[in-house]
This record gives sequence, structure tokens and C-alpha cells, in this order.
Amino acid sequence: MTSARPARVAVLISGRGSNMQALVTTQDESFRIVLVASDRPEAAGLAWAREHGLPTFALAPKGIGKPAYEAALDAALREAGAEYIALAGYMRLLSDAFVARWRDRIINIHPSLLPRYKGLDTHARAIAAGDATGGCSVHVVTEELDAGEVLGRAEVPIHADDTAETLAARVLIEEHRLYPAMLREFVRR
Ligand code: GRF
Repeated sequence: MTSARPARVAVLISGRGSNMQALVTTQDESFRIVLVASDRPEAAGLAWAREHGLPTFALAPKGIGKPAYEAALDAALREAGAEYIALAGYMRLLSDAFVARWRDRIINIHPSLLPRYKGLDTHARAIAAGDATGGCSVHVVTEELDAGEVLGRAEVPIHADDTAETLAARVLIEEHRLYPAMLREFVRR
């Protein structure tokens, strides 16, 4: 059933936040970004979000422990009225308990053609394997790293002279297209 109002989405970031920006600049009647949260108070993406008038939440887990950190994050998400969470370069593993509380409400963008190259250094691994293509995937977050249902993928060619950096830049353009489109489909289903 189509919802009469936009779905309320929080975005979790740890750094630059270019995928978060892609979500913010494409929000429409299907979803609204109601909070940008980060585990790194110095994240560049947080400054951008503040400059653009978005509500933000920043808390570093160091010193308070994971359970207290996640409890505070969960409270901020509920305070903001978030219904969904979009992970966008969020570099921290969420606990099983947190994932269970938000079951089927968290999605992530991952810079590989899942199920290939879960985890880190995806572009370097794709080049080292001699793959002809690389890309990105949007998937539902479950307790198992990068293993939830894949909602969609975008593929790019890998060139003979590619480095992890040049491939990452080519993939990132596709990430910015794929993520808003998949989020839109996800909140509608
Ligand atoms: C992206 O490549 C994303 O796929 C990965 O981390 C990077 C984050 O970039 N999970 P940004 O912070 O969205 O610019």
C-alpha cells in the first residue's frame, strides 16, 4: 500500500557522507531524512548536514561502551521519529540486539557486487581477482555482515589501469544513483 506521507529515515555516517548527501538532495514524497547521526563527531558529513539545517546527533562510543552508545543512538532515532535507518559509510558494526530492534528497517550501501567482497578493501580485492566489473549493492542489514537481502546492484567496468581509488570514484557515482532509488523502493514495499 502506498503511504500517504513520506517515510521518516535517519542516516548513519562515519565520514565524508557523500551518500547521505545523495539521499538528502533526492528526498521527496516517498522519504524524508529526519536525522543524520554519526559515531564520529568530527565527520565531515555532519558539518554538511548542520549547514543544510538537518537535525544531527553525534556521539563517540569510546569511553562509554557499546551498549550505552547504542542506547543513546536508539533514543535519538526514536526522538527524531525515525522509521528506517540508512547506513551510509557507517563504519561500526551494530550489535545483534540493535539490529533486532530495527529488524527489516535498516539498509546499507556496500561498495561491491554482493555477495562478492563482503567487508573492507572491496575495490582492491576486485582488481586483484582480475574481475571485469565492480560495483555497489544496497542490502537489508541483518546480524551477519553484508549478508542481508540484496535490494539492487549497479555495475561498472574495471579498466586495466584501474587502482582501488579510480575504481572507487567510478563506483561512487553509481552509489549516489542507486541508494536513493533503492531506499524509495524499500520504504514503499
Ligand atoms: C561508500 O563507498 C560506501 O559504499 C561505503 O563507504 C563509502 C562511504 O562514502 N560503505 P560516503 O561517506 O558516503 O561518501
